Amino acid sequence: MGLGIALVSASVAKLPVKIFDLNSKQIEKGLSFMDSLLEKDIVKNRITRDHANETKARITTSNSIHELSSADFVIEAVSENVDLKRKIFTELDEVTHKDTILATNTSSISITKIAAATKKPDKVIGMHFMNPVPVMKLVEIIPGLATSDRTLDVTKKLATSMGKTCTQSEDVPGFIANRLLMPYINEAVMVLEQGIATREDIDTTMKLGTNTPMGPLTLADFIGLDTCLAIMKVLHNEIGDTKYRPALLLQKYVDAGWLGKKTGRGFYEY
Ligand code: CAA
Repeated sequence: MGLGIALVSASVAKLPVKIFDLNSKQIEKGLSFMDSLLEKDIVKNRITRDHANETKARITTSNSIHELSSADFVIEAVSENVDLKRKIFTELDEVTHKDTILATNTSSISITKIAAATKKPDKVIGMHFMNPVPVMKLVEIIPGLATSDRTLDVTKKLATSMGKTCTQSEDVPGFIANRLLMPYINEAVMVLEQGIATREDIDTTMKLGTNTPMGPLTLADFIGLDTCLAIMKVLHNEIGDTKYRPALLLQKYVDAGWLGKKTGRGFYEY
């Protein structure tokens, strides 16, 4: 998702972007995927080669967090691990200047909890993009308990300049999107688990029956079953209502390493 966010920042908002990842291979993989997306847009006459070259020229990369010291706005997009996110925010707080806004692309973790790992919680905010970022039009904006109005305003303006529509949610588990989407996916896994229907019939029913691009099991594979499980656990643990209990089959697939499209196997084989 970080790659997608960098791409729309450079291509649509036309901002200088630095991609930071400890793993250089991951950066190279991302840049080559970005090249293929820009190339496709040239072929489809959506952008010129000059636009693609200007976009690429706006993007630099780094595997040292210290190189983010001059950033005005940082968007973190690591995996859904609260300890990791808090550690990164403490480091970002130390290396960036006092006015830098620190946004997290978390899909369900408390913004207030992440902000508390910094000394400037007024500058911390949730900016939840949808996957795939270049295609999906939505960004959920989530102010934490201490987020200032200025931080909220700048973040909304930035998301709009990326060509996105913003919605705003209270800082509650799952925000809006995953509070609705994950119980739906989880229920689909329970329908499969209980032998009510095949994976194909579950997906076809919802795809054709509610006019969505993907059925819930295909979508779960696309998002990553580990991510779906992590979000269900946040909903279950933090809200405490048993209706958010993760499906046993979802846990079993994750235990087996069947994480969806990214591992070649989830509810479907890839
Ligand atoms: N990155 C960038 N672009 C991508 C892409 C990716 N990973 N995957 C597909 N695309 C682009 C394709 O290049 C194609 O672009 P063009 O129209 O320019 O050719 C376009 O998307 C359509 O792709 P395809 O024709 O290959 O396939 P499709 O019509 O089936 O669309 C899809 C693919 C856009 C992913 C569509 O199936 C879809 O919208 N699925 C639902 C996605 C969704 O619900 N996302 C939200 C997930 S929840 C989330 O992200 C939040 C969370 O916290 C879990």
